[in-house]
Amino acid sequence: MVSHNRLEDERASLFYNAISKHKQSPGPLMPTLQDAQRIFGCVPLEIQKIISKELHESIAKINGVVTFYSQFSLTPKGKNTISVCLGTACYVKGSQGILGAFTDELKIKNGETTKDGLYTLEATRCIGACGLAPVFCMNERVCGRANVQKAKAMLQSNPKLPVEETQEVVL
Ligand code: FES
Repeated sequence: MVSHNRLEDERASLFYNAISKHKQSPGPLMPTLQDAQRIFGCVPLEIQKIISKELHESIAKINGVVTFYSQFSLTPKGKNTISVCLGTACYVKGSQGILGAFTDELKIKNGETTKDGLYTLEATRCIGACGLAPVFCMNERVCGRANVQKAKAMLQSNPKLPVEETQEVVL
């Protein structure tokens, strides 16, 4: 079994190797942040400080990027990310109610992760699947023409979704 410290050492080593590699190329910030997110599961301030020092970028800029893009998070995300679209087409078709159903079922608010680390709940802007509105996603999987019942059913049958209403989309 890998000890906690050894795991941390391995992660740190992977991270510094990634920084060294990306430093050789133009525009190293985004790929470095993506690797940090993948390696640590989030990009908290202490990691941002290391990136700032290594890439000679300001913390303000790095933090701005981390907080702007939904692919990055400041705290560890759950094993599964549920994203409910609150774009206009989905909103008028009731996506707020779907978000509310997840909030009730999981006992977390938008942006939070369940205590068991299984789910992170996020409200998103339009994901480009308006024809299927209202829409929510479980990781890469999209559930279209969704409703509260489907949201609850999805949690009960995770990771299975009703096949006829589900399709993969490239986001
Ligand atoms: S508004 Fe929800 S997919 Fe476009």
